[in-house]
Amino acid sequence: MRVALVQNDPAFAKTDNNLDRLLTLIESTPADFYVLPELCFTGYQFASREEANRYAVPSDGAVIGRFRQAAKEHNALIAFGYPEKAPEGPYNAAMIVTPDGRDLRYRKTHLFYREKDIFLPGDTGFDIIEWAGVRIGLAVCFDWFFPESFRTLALKGADIIAHCANLVMPYCQQANFTRALENRVYIATANRIGSEERTGEKITFTGGSVLVSPHGEYLLSLPKETEAVEVAEIDPFIAREKRINDFNDLFADRRPEYYS
Ligand code: ACM
Repeated sequence: MRVALVQNDPAFAKTDNNLDRLLTLIESTPADFYVLPELCFTGYQFASREEANRYAVPSDGAVIGRFRQAAKEHNALIAFGYPEKAPEGPYNAAMIVTPDGRDLRYRKTHLFYREKDIFLPGDTGFDIIEWAGVRIGLAVCFDWFFPESFRTLALKGADIIAHCANLVMPYCQQANFTRALENRVYIATANRIGSEERTGEKITFTGGSVLVSPHGEYLLSLPKETEAVEVAEIDPFIAREKRINDFNDLFADRRPEYYS
């Protein structure tokens, strides 16, 4: 499977323009699976829950429909983050859409910093979807800081974790080495670039999207400050081999009775 990381610089609240740009980036580079950043077509720094609700979109609406259509046209999966409009309020959500019309929906479990004032805490838990024999898990940005997130997806059988991000701290790209190694999974972190300063606080996103193999190899490492799309091939069977040597198995050797 050819995995593409897409990193963009969305203009705040310019949904249509940002979507056009993302679809152009997708079109520029053939792949089987595109991973896009968190909140990839709205921008990040909402001033209030009401404002987030104004730009949030329903999971079955026309905006998300453009990704569903693109998945069909390119015969490829697309993972992306978006503000989800729900009756009870907005979620920081992500979705994977498939060419055959299915989807995997996820609501961010671990909200970061002022997101706690903006979004409702995610209530979906972590799950995976299968396409072309590859099992794919989904997570959003700060989830990485909690090892249980990627561990849960690995234990559920994920070969690759699509990680839609708007990272502001500099650690995740390096930490993915350990997260990939300790779970023997591919990690595809798509991170946006640029800055926002809407609420009196400037935040700068760290770009540098990475695709890391189950053995900790950096298959892709994108630039820190420019938009980019890059592609690498993954082999799910490398992720399924959980034996470390003749004596050790990553999952069979766990001792959960000592972990609480
Ligand atoms: C983050 O969770 N967007 C840092």
